[in-house]
Amino acid sequence: MIIRNAEIADVATISQLHAEQISEGFLPTLGQPFLERLYRRILKGPDAFALVAAEEGSLLGFAAGAREIGALYKRFLIRDGVVAGLRAAPILIRSLPRVIETLRYPTGEGELPNAEILAVAVTTSAQGRGIGRALVSEATTRLELLGANDIKVVTGADNAAALALYRACGFTTRAHLAVHAGTTSEVLVWTAP
Ligand SMILES: CC(C)(COP(=O)(O)OP(=O)(O)OC[C@H]1O[C@@H](n2cnc3c(N)ncnc32)[C@H](O)[C@@H]1OP(=O)(O)O)[C@@H](O)C(=O)NCCC(=O)NCCS
Repeated sequence: MIIRNAEIADVATISQLHAEQISEGFLPTLGQPFLERLYRRILKGPDAFALVAAEEGSLLGFAAGAREIGALYKRFLIRDGVVAGLRAAPILIRSLPRVIETLRYPTGEGELPNAEILAVAVTTSAQGRGIGRALVSEATTRLELLGANDIKVVTGADNAAALALYRACGFTTRAHLAVHAGTTSEVLVWTAP
């Protein structure tokens, strides 16, 4: 198994994996074309990235991160927002209240770090082999190289696997947020030694 930078050719599989494996947040509800556009924007950098875990040509998992999560969302909204929004319009209208809440949280979070691991997922058949840990560890290193001393992740307070993974990688719980109505998210933070 190797961890490498994601390429444009990986975007469809990454988006599919995101949609299948991550039910948290509003992103999966907006559909695959929206996710693909977001991941294409992430690959364009300059301070965001996606990594994939690959084995014998198959993609087993991915992780994505951004040095400044607010700046990434802003770039996405300005450069892709209209097209991505139009394609996703019917779902966007249905989920708009949640979308607004989510887009607000990067700026309303007070002391929380700007650097964020946005998503991590491993295919069901490859889970439990240390791939999630390897992806989070590499994503943390990349964010450190981009100048981050503190990194946050946001995950569902009931997502036992994700919480165990992040804690195993040195993240500790910093806050609980009601990012999406009716659900609680846990914010965990990693600080450079
Ligand atoms: C969370 C996820 C990425 C973990 O990936 P993984 O490759 O199975 O994790 P690893 O094998 O690297 O395990 C890392 C640690 O987490 C623990 N862990 C993983 N899954 C667990 C589970 N279901 N319950 C309890 N602990 C778990 C492992 O025991 C390990 O800790 P250890 O090394 O101290 O034993 C995977 O379960 C997944 O894709 N879930 C769906 C997507 C998701 O929820 N992503 C997070 C929100 S963005």
